[in-house]
Amino acid sequence: MKRILLLAGLLLAACAPKSDMDKYIDSLMDRMTLEQKLGQLNLHAVNGLVTGAKLSDDDANVKALQAGQLGGVFGSGDLAYLRQMQDIAVSSGAGIPLITGMDVIHGFQTIYPIPLALSTSWDMDLIESVARMAAKEASASGINWVYSPMVDICRDARWGRIAEGGGEDPYLGGEIAKAYVRGYQGTDGVYDDHDVMVCVKHYALYGAAEAGRDYNTVFLNRQEALNGYMRPYQQAAYAGADSYMSSFNEFEGIPASMNNYLMNELLRDTWGFKGFIVSDYTAVSEEINHGIGDLQEVSARSLKAGLDMDMMADGFVGTLEQSLKEGKVSMADIDRACRRILEAKYKLGLFDDPYKYLDPSRAAAEIYTTENKADARKTAQECQVLLKNNGVLPLSKNARIAVVGPLAKDAHSMAGAWATSSHNGECVTLYDGIAEVANVTYAQGSRLFKDETLDRIVRNGGDYSAPQERLVAEAVAKARVADIVIACVGETNNMSGEAASRTDVTLPDAQKELLKALKATGKPVVMVLVTGRPLALVDEDASMDAILNVWAPGTEGGHAVADILFGDVNPSAKLTTSFPRSVGQLPLYYNHKNTGRPHGEFDPFKKFVSAYLDEINGPLYPFGYGLSYTTHEYGDVSLSAAEMPQNGTVTASVTVTNTGDRDGDEIVQLYIHDIYATSTRPVKELKGFKKVHIAAGESVQVDFPITTEELSYYNHDLEWVCEPGDFDIYIGPDCQRGGSARLTVR
Ligand code: NOJ
Repeated sequence: MKRILLLAGLLLAACAPKSDMDKYIDSLMDRMTLEQKLGQLNLHAVNGLVTGAKLSDDDANVKALQAGQLGGVFGSGDLAYLRQMQDIAVSSGAGIPLITGMDVIHGFQTIYPIPLALSTSWDMDLIESVARMAAKEASASGINWVYSPMVDICRDARWGRIAEGGGEDPYLGGEIAKAYVRGYQGTDGVYDDHDVMVCVKHYALYGAAEAGRDYNTVFLNRQEALNGYMRPYQQAAYAGADSYMSSFNEFEGIPASMNNYLMNELLRDTWGFKGFIVSDYTAVSEEINHGIGDLQEVSARSLKAGLDMDMMADGFVGTLEQSLKEGKVSMADIDRACRRILEAKYKLGLFDDPYKYLDPSRAAAEIYTTENKADARKTAQECQVLLKNNGVLPLSKNARIAVVGPLAKDAHSMAGAWATSSHNGECVTLYDGIAEVANVTYAQGSRLFKDETLDRIVRNGGDYSAPQERLVAEAVAKARVADIVIACVGETNNMSGEAASRTDVTLPDAQKELLKALKATGKPVVMVLVTGRPLALVDEDASMDAILNVWAPGTEGGHAVADILFGDVNPSAKLTTSFPRSVGQLPLYYNHKNTGRPHGEFDPFKKFVSAYLDEINGPLYPFGYGLSYTTHEYGDVSLSAAEMPQNGTVTASVTVTNTGDRDGDEIVQLYIHDIYATSTRPVKELKGFKKVHIAAGESVQVDFPITTEELSYYNHDLEWVCEPGDFDIYIGPDCQRGGSARLTVR
């Protein structure tokens, strides 16, 4: 049956009239030589960008371009340089314009909070607008293709790249993926000169790297992958993403960049993706290290498995001709990949105007403008999670404040990982933001780490040669004469992102020492946490008066943090990753399975159940958690009907009341537990959320429609099914609190 449908589909496609794009590309490809076609499959870094073993040589790139051996370049936002490269591309070989890529991850020159921080806003319009703004700046700098969104689900805080994604939940991750695609590519299906093509990454499952070590092996079965990790990649395809980047890791013993199941079967045949797939940086040649074969072998297998473009390995351009001669690949395989890349260029409008994204008149009016920076500040206000507050926040602007800590004056760490802009050193620091509105003194307070080598690797300058004891003593002296201390501690931008895995996810030792000494002064201490990952903050939670997690808040970071600290803005962000109590709990995620011997998250140790001897099972701060300067109370959860037919709909509702004295935003969350199913199901799964503004003393009713979709999952046969039976429907302020109602599906 499947075969007949496939044949019928092929027949229909053959009979359908050809689109203008198809006709254009047919005639172009008729004129192209094999070498020119292979050149289109080749992508090189320029301007010294390096994220792997292989370096890119700019002179060699020019020669390759002149010889028609490059289909695209990435890593430069230098418009004049890209214009020169485009000049060469259109005047040599088949005259095909370059696609120009860049790691535009959270803004371009105006830097927004890191993606993990953006996800804690739970605000899809906000994320879409961040992507829109980044597209505007990037497209005014000669870039037409961005290596974003990064949608890898991650349950392990040791992995440094958790900073680049949307957290641990596949449903939220799917919504975020769609928002980014809408923002970058636009919503009308046509690329205007402010729209850029996305490259969804890293396909697939990179975030499940074993033990959080970067580039490590992934061990997951298909069912767990589909239920727990794949939704964001799938939703991005449904939203119209036009390109994907294959990941470094393997899946089921096959590297992702040569994985036929991932690329051809799932992404293309099942989800209907029609665009092109580029490898990650030297991922093709790394397949040699994976133990698959030599460069020719791995290149041929990657092409056949559905990879279209080779980033930096020179495997396609260097070996596919030989593989064609030996019958290891066919001309149809090469043509297919070449066509997909030409289609991307056609969709971008580069054949109509190769200089569409190379307009020098745009830069001054559109990049790093006052308006863009104001937008970054507003965004950063939505992305700070208040983890603890014993009432000390918000602060009075009249207080005498000691601002201390190694992150207080670190502008680069405000930008966070993957912020390639030249302005990173100009980000508003925490110190500057606070000093603008209050009366402050300053001391660096400590090194980052006690270990000198580690300290040197991660720091961005400052007086790190000073002995730790002296630094602490200076901070303590400042604290003693202040009314309140703001301790700016955490991770620098070099401690998260690519190749920045940690085995210990606590605050670095030197900074812990500083906090202890500050606490001993008896002054109230507000900890402002800069971090790219969830940290285990058990000691700090016990000792600090308040903890505000500001992540890496971007260009306007210091201003936006001061806006929250002094109460000009009421914090509303909520966590999208569980914060562990100890590194030994990792991987830690709220949507875990029950096991046959379940144990309560907060129950003390018991023998012969799934528990730790030396720690409770639960997180320190759960998924969905975050405080504000007001309080919200949740009423009972009600359902419009207690029973639902398989294809029906019910509405789950709750009334939320702002019981404090400040207006505020509340992120209301819907979770579902499938009590019995033919496969084991997680204890809870997020299936909806709404961010609502509630005035002090007011109540709002929040409704969530529940359809078969929210109740479905991939069963053991990998079918998306809603199985009849009972479901618990929870609505609450985070994954642990709130009420529930029982729904029966007949
Ligand atoms: C390697 C990273 O894994 C990927 O995220 C990035 O887009 C490429 N390098 C290009 O810089």
